[in-house]
Amino acid sequence: MATFSHLNTILSPTVLILFITLPLSKAVLDAHFYDQKCPVAEHIISETVRNASIYDPKVPARILRMFFHDCFLRGCDASVLLDSTQGSKAEKDGPPNISLRAFYVVDDAKAKLEMACPNTVSCADIIAIAARDVVTMLGGPYWNVLKGRKDGRVSKANETINLPAPSFNVTQLSQSFARRGLGLKDLVALSGGHTLGFSHCSSFEARVRNFSALHEVDPNINIEFAEKLRKKCLDPKRDHNAGEFLDSTSSTFDNDYYQRVMAGKGVFGSDQALYGDFRTRWIVESFAKDEKLFFREFAASMVKLGNVGVIEDGEVRVKCRVVN
Ligand code: HEM
Ligand SMILES: *[C@@H]1O[C@H](CO)[C@@H](O)[C@H](O)[C@H]1NC(C)=O
Ligand SMILES: *[C@@H]1O[C@H](CO)[C@@H](O)[C@H](O)[C@H]1NC(C)=O
Ligand SMILES: *[C@@H]1O[C@H](CO)[C@@H](O)[C@H](O)[C@H]1NC(C)=O
Ligand SMILES: *[C@@H]1O[C@H](CO)[C@@H](O)[C@H](O)[C@H]1NC(C)=O
Ligand SMILES: *[C@@H]1O[C@H](CO)[C@@H](O)[C@H](O)[C@H]1NC(C)=O
Repeated sequence: MATFSHLNTILSPTVLILFITLPLSKAVLDAHFYDQKCPVAEHIISETVRNASIYDPKVPARILRMFFHDCFLRGCDASVLLDSTQGSKAEKDGPPNISLRAFYVVDDAKAKLEMACPNTVSCADIIAIAARDVVTMLGGPYWNVLKGRKDGRVSKANETINLPAPSFNVTQLSQSFARRGLGLKDLVALSGGHTLGFSHCSSFEARVRNFSALHEVDPNINIEFAEKLRKKCLDPKRDHNAGEFLDSTSSTFDNDYYQRVMAGKGVFGSDQALYGDFRTRWIVESFAKDEKLFFREFAASMVKLGNVGVIEDGEVRVKCRVVN
């Protein structure tokens, strides 16, 4: 007791949360899991992802985001892929699903895998491998994906409330990440996923219009950039597709995201908050300065994200949209 109250006085609340978070993952993953069982697995997945991305350049960003959502809700168990059933709305039909698309790419890879090695490769592993592939394909790092995840049998729309919101500050973000065993470095590195893709107006509009009682515009945003965002979203109610790219090089995986955040040009409040808070500012600065460092840390944090809540008592789904 005495020791603990002593700890309390010297550690910030965020640090304490890290200490009391239990490891969520029970199963042990393995880089060589399919070496014997399905040696062509990774090749089939990367070919499918590459092909789909040629036809639709939006695919890579959508797949990367899919991995994040999957792992943050019920762990990396492909719950994000399940379709709603009668009487039960699934995650993909929950509120922040606006860019959750490209499920057909996973379906396509799964169909080919079922022909090559039936009942072997889990849908959760397909998402994890595909997320690595899109990053590497667009100029980012390569890493060995640990495999052997099992697919879950449950997906609930109301649980999407547990995803971090784009309006979150660093305290809220770090609590959300700490609950999954992820620290501040992981938060900053994984937010670098916003080097890819696009956002709809609904996710950032509140920052540039009637922000608060005191400020019309979020005071942390670059003034010209705010004006640009406002113009993009003149009438979002009529144009549901309106929005802005998350990065000026939104089809290249690079460290430009951090340079933009330092210039007040992060699209979400959560992006900008990383630079506004002393706990994370130095990490943003080091990734902006050193792309190699960012790549190394992003890869390491993606491996950690892929370990979140991995389940032992799941199944290998035959079709990723329905339980067996
Ligand atoms: C830190 C907390 C995070 C918040 C609050 C957040 C929030 C958001 C929001 C609001 C969007 C835009 C949705 C839309 O309006 O279309 C988005 C897009 C995206 N997010 Fe995040 N995100 C976070 C972390 C991550 C992580 C960890 C990754 C992956 C490593 C990621 C990857 C992406 C990608 C690639 C897109 C673009 C999707 C597309 O172009 O279709 N995000 N995020
Ligand atoms: C590539 O994708 C297109 C469109 O989705 C499909 O018609 C074609 O068969 C695919 N090719 C391969 C080799 O998978
Ligand atoms: C997103 O969720 C809404 C309900 O909140 C649902 O009507 C819609 O079909 C979902 N969109 C996609 C692409 O899954
Ligand atoms: C979602 O709804 C179920 C009941 O259908 C409830 O047991 C559960 O606590 C809810 N979860 C959240 C995060 O609200
Ligand atoms: C973060 O947001 C929460 C909820 O709005 C608020 O209580 C807290 O004071 C904020 N923390 C910081 C450091 O701004
Ligand atoms: C702006 O927000 C305030 C509350 O903060 C609200 O009373 C007001 O109606 C809003 N104005 C517009 C134009 O939406």
